Amino acid sequence: MAHRRGFLREFLTNRSTVGAIAPSSKGLAKAITKPARSCVGARRWLEVGPGTGVFTRELVDAMGEGDHFDVVELNAAFCKTLRADVLPQNDHVVLHEGSIEDASISGNYHAIVCGLPYNAFPTNVSRSILRRLVQLLRPGGTLSFFEYAAIRHMRSAVSSKSVKRAMLWHATFIARLEQDMRGRRELVMMNMPPAWAVHLTKEDAQP
Ligand SMILES: C[S@@+](CC[C@H](N)C(=O)[O-])C[C@H]1O[C@@H](n2cnc3c(N)ncnc32)[C@H](O)[C@@H]1O
Repeated sequence: MAHRRGFLREFLTNRSTVGAIAPSSKGLAKAITKPARSCVGARRWLEVGPGTGVFTRELVDAMGEGDHFDVVELNAAFCKTLRADVLPQNDHVVLHEGSIEDASISGNYHAIVCGLPYNAFPTNVSRSILRRLVQLLRPGGTLSFFEYAAIRHMRSAVSSKSVKRAMLWHATFIARLEQDMRGRRELVMMNMPPAWAVHLTKEDAQP
């Protein structure tokens, strides 16, 4: 409950970067972290935009010997919560406080889990971040993120022409990524609002 209150407070002060009024559900956390948890061997994981750590907890609980986990969060209050309540104190889990656009991380990840509110970002920002995340994957690695069901239709219905155009560009970009990267989607109804967990896998031949 304290995490939910903290989340709402951060949304009210940083709407455009937090992008949601409440943390995701455990059901969405299970769906979005599935590819990361399913890899075998010594795994390298990245999570971007963990907020209060709903997805992070699933990954921390699934960590085994030899795994490495980088976590990138922009919001200072969320970083404090993550340090205090979610992340273990060891060298295998590293919290990078700041934007994913500036994070010094080396890449070659088996799985990336991303909780960023893409639909709330300007299209050039969301595209450049998504491209960077794809580059940070190793061949065969999976990028997982979520989209609220019908969010683009709802925003388009009540928005200006420029926002409508941005929503369309964004939808086209995501559809192309899903086509190029063996995209698959799972609808999670037990989330407020219901959301799609989207998974993209990088082919060996991907530049
Ligand atoms: C919609 S919330 C999702 C939080 C959590 N993953 C969940 O599903 O409950 C988006 C999160 O992304 C973070 N964020 C936004 N822009 C970011 C950026 N450029 N780099 C890293 N984190 C960012 C916000 O601070 C916030 O914690």
